[in-house]
Amino acid sequence: MEKLEFYNNPRFHHVQHPLIEHKLAILRDENTKTKQFAELAEEIAMLLTYEATKDLPLEDVLVKTPLEETTCHMVSGRAVGIVPILRAGLGMVSGVQKLIPNAKVGHIGLYRDETTHQPVEYYCKLPADAESRILLVVDPMLATGGSASDAITMIKKRGAKQIKLCCLVSAPEGIRRILNDHPDVDLYVAAVDRQLNENCYIMPGLGDAGDRLFGTK
Ligand code: PRP
Ligand code: URA
Repeated sequence: MEKLEFYNNPRFHHVQHPLIEHKLAILRDENTKTKQFAELAEEIAMLLTYEATKDLPLEDVLVKTPLEETTCHMVSGRAVGIVPILRAGLGMVSGVQKLIPNAKVGHIGLYRDETTHQPVEYYCKLPADAESRILLVVDPMLATGGSASDAITMIKKRGAKQIKLCCLVSAPEGIRRILNDHPDVDLYVAAVDRQLNENCYIMPGLGDAGDRLFGTK
């Protein structure tokens, strides 16, 4: 199959790994229940974070091993912020925190209107020093891209400059929207699905991520 044009964009990262494929297969399965769904979302978020943090700046630290002093390198946890898009983004936060426990967490509240499919904003609270942090915006689903694009715009208005978006399942439409609206943002996805359906759901997708995470349907 021919590769879609966005694979040539250096800001686009399709994170491909056998463990991700395996976990996604169970995540998508309609028989997977809330508890396992949440565990898998956390685990895939962790694997995406590993890739999305490859370029984090390191600082030298002096460490005394049982044998001698040596210079090692550490990432400052203070450098990173996690911003879940409510509500489904909450399901990815613990996965990022497992790798970056000191990262501060902000929240953006957006939901898609069921008729217009347009995002509606209802909340935004970011770390006070968001403008100096690398912000990892997390949301399991990138469908039309409207929610994530608006969320990033809200974050930029509050001064943030270094933003990375991590999504579990994406549609080509959403990928194009983010790369077009926010060419300065790196996008990390675990899956690129075929298309959106008439209700702007990702096909084959996994259904409604928020409902599956929180058992609300
Ligand atoms: C879902 C998902 C994204 C959005 C993706 O949230 O978590 O935020 O839809 O769709 P888009 O790319 O077309 O904007 P939803 O609106 O269902 O809200 P919820 O997380 O509160 O369930
Ligand atoms: N939101 C979801 O939860 N799933 C989709 O497929 C699209 C938007």
